[in-house]
Order: sequence, then structure tokens, then C-alpha cells
Amino acid sequence: MTTAQIESIGQHNGQTVTLQGWLYNKRKAGQLMFLIVRDGTGFIQSVVFKKEVDEATWEAAKEATQESSVIVTGVVRKDDRAPYCGYELGVQKLELLQKVPPESYPISHKEHGPDFLLENRHLWLRTPSQMATMRIRHEVMAASRDFFNQRGFINVDAPIITANAAEGTTTLFEIDYFDDKAYLSQTGQLYMEAAALALGNVYCLGPVFRAEKSKTRKHLTEFWMIEPEMTYIDLDDNLKIQEEYVAYVVQRVLQNRASELKFLERDLSKLESITAPFPRIAYDEAVTLLQSMGSEIQWGDDLGAPDETLLGEHFQKPVFVHRFPTAIKAFYMKPDPERPEVVLGADLIAPDGYGEIIGGGQRIDDYDLLVQRIEEHKLPLEAFDWYLDLRKYGSVPHGGFGLGIERLVAWLAGAPHVRESSPFPRTIYRIKP
Ligand code: 4AD
Ligand code: MG
Repeated sequence: MTTAQIESIGQHNGQTVTLQGWLYNKRKAGQLMFLIVRDGTGFIQSVVFKKEVDEATWEAAKEATQESSVIVTGVVRKDDRAPYCGYELGVQKLELLQKVPPESYPISHKEHGPDFLLENRHLWLRTPSQMATMRIRHEVMAASRDFFNQRGFINVDAPIITANAAEGTTTLFEIDYFDDKAYLSQTGQLYMEAAALALGNVYCLGPVFRAEKSKTRKHLTEFWMIEPEMTYIDLDDNLKIQEEYVAYVVQRVLQNRASELKFLERDLSKLESITAPFPRIAYDEAVTLLQSMGSEIQWGDDLGAPDETLLGEHFQKPVFVHRFPTAIKAFYMKPDPERPEVVLGADLIAPDGYGEIIGGGQRIDDYDLLVQRIEEHKLPLEAFDWYLDLRKYGSVPHGGFGLGIERLVAWLAGAPHVRESSPFPRTIYRIKP
């Protein structure tokens, strides 16, 4: 007997196969029972006809409740009307491995509120929309690694425990570290700069932490970021890599996860139009444009969520906003030599209200200027001695960027909140499950 997976059930059309999974849903109509079985790779309607099975199988099918574990053997039949996968299983045998007591499974088939679902995240993951989102996340992770690996980048991972603040001191998680204090890393960037000066083009892909008090649909306190860092590049080279990377990931997801996107009712034509190059707009122009669209933004302000949404609507594509005011950006960002009040950096804003998905730019490569900026940001110079060494020993123009994986996944999957693109999201009110 072949153990098959629902994802590739089409390869077994007409054959008898065994599926190992769980009962998702069930409907009885006289002598027939329609069981929706899931195995992690998909869902399939399995039809039990009383006359065609033995007593034990009919009883097991009757007994099986939502999320009971089941092993089902039957004949695969192509049927375009069949829900979920376009195939049906004509059941011959059903074994009930563990029976869930009736009416006890917390996530029944009625509507549930977000708090309840989050409390039951360990079970909520079993529902079709969440399974589809996790499969899209998997594709994003794999495509991200493939893109940079194929271009000769070296994967060098950054530590999670660190002595440095890098993205402002207000979002630091402090931890006791023996007789000292340390922080959970907000970014791997500073370490990637050291690695890039050793190895050339590098990237890290790992979790980072921000003690964000924000309760928006874009903020988690723990999220994953990919952070490529490149030597001997300028801002333009950097933006080119970013747009090629994002376009590549979008096309990979369209190619390999189209059924998940369709299940989530994502408008595929919108994603199909995401090709490089992406529009670029200077912060100055963005402010003028936003004001003309009714925003109250003033020069010097950061973009608010409504501003990002307006830009997304205007361009209908991810858009780079470059040369933000130096005063609102991180200490390491290189001021434009022609206009030091702005930095040689850019954010990439996703369409459909998903907001900033990338932050990046050129790093300060001059020792004295970097010392000055660390002091202006009131950061402890001694914590950055090693980082300053990079400007003492063979400094070169370099830059990179960071893309938030959950924000990208939320945009691609059309998720209402980034917490749906994290398997076990961490937010200010939630560290369980
Ligand atoms: O713009 P950020 O803060 O940039 C950095 O951390 C740089 N050091 C990256 C670099 O140049 N190597 O964060 C980068 C991205 C954002 O654009 C966003 O996608 C994501 O990380 N991000 C968050 N995602 C979820 N929850 C949060 N609280 C996030 N904060 C940032
Ligand atoms: Mg940013």
C-alpha cells in the first residue's frame, strides 16, 4: 500500500492509497459520509459508502470527530467538483487512531474572535488559512536564501545576545547576563558589517527583538529579518539588489504557492505586476506628494501608517523612499555628502497598506563622523569599540538592508495582521503559546 500525500494526490489517480492525517470536517447523508481529511499537505474529501466498507470502518467513520487522528485507505478519483483539491478518495478502510471527545475541540467550525484564536495558536495553525500562510512563509524563506546564495553571498549569522543598541534605545529588551546586562539583538547589521569586511557579500537570516509598545498590525516584538550587507557598493547598487530580490520572491511564491494564494483569495494579478524596477522617490518629493493627497506630514516627520498607505495606493507597486532626514534615522546611516541633512538610505514601502518592508542604506565609513554620531545619539562609545575598528582597519564604502519576513509574508498572503505570518507571534500582550 502506498502512503500518499494530498499535495501530490494527482500522481495517484485511479490507485489505492493510504493517507495519514486528521479529520477536519464531516457530513452525513444517509448511507454516505463525506469526511474532509487533512494530512498537513492539504485537504481531501473522502467518501464513505456504507455498502462498500466493512462494519468497523463505517463505525470508525461515525465515531470520528473533528481533529481525531485517522488513517484512511481508498481509491483516488479525479473530480473537478470535489472541494479543496479536485480529487476525491473513495474510502475502503478507515482506522481511528485517537478519538477526540465529541464537541471538545476548541476551534469549532463557527466564527471565532482573534484573541481566542491567538490563545489557541497551537491549534489554529491547523486551519486551512493558517496552513496556507505558513506554506507561503516557507517559500519566502527558501526563496530568500536561494536568491542570495545564487549570487555568491555567504550566510553568516549574527548573535542574539548583544552588548549594543543599534536601532534606538527605546525598544531594547534588557536581560541579566551574569553580573552584567545585555540585550536581545534588534538587528544583525553591525555584525554583518564586520562579516562583509571579512568575506565580501554576506547575509544573516534570524530572529530579532524590539520592545515595541505599538499595537499596530505591523509590529511584533520578535520577528525574523534577512540582512544582506555588501562591500564597495553605493545606494543605487543597493536598491537594485533589493528590487530584484523582492521581485524574485514574489514570482517564486506565485509559481510554487499559487494554490495557497488562491485559497487565501489573494488577487494574483496584483502580485504578477510586481516586477523590477520599483519607483524611487526622494523623501522631499514624498512629503510634497503626500501633502497634495491630504496628509498633514511636515518635512522632518517620519512617514505615518496612513502616509505609507497613500504612497502604496499612488504607486500600486513597492516604492523606495530615499534620503530621509538624518535626524530621524539610525546613528550609522551615512549622510549625503552633498546634503548632510539627509541620509543615503531608503525604505521600501509595500502596496495595499502593508507599509515599510525594507530599511537600508549606506553606512558611515569615516571613523570620526561615526564617533560623532554615536555621541550625538548618546550611545556608550565603549560598547562600539569593535564596530569602530571596522573604520580604522581598511574601511570601504559599504551598505545593506534588512527585510522583515513577517511583513513580506503578510503582504503576499494578504493577512490582516503580521501575527498571522508568524507561527508563534510575540506581541506586547502575548508570549503564549
Ligand atoms: O528599518 P529597520 O529597523 O532596519 C534595521 O533594523 C536595519 N539595521 C536593517 C539593515 O540595514 N540591516 O527594520 C528593518 C525591517 C523593517 O523594514 C520591517 O520590515 C521589519 O524590519 N520590522 C518589523 N517587523 C515586524 N515587527 C516589528 N516590530 C518590526 N520592526 C521592523
Ligand atoms: Mg525602518
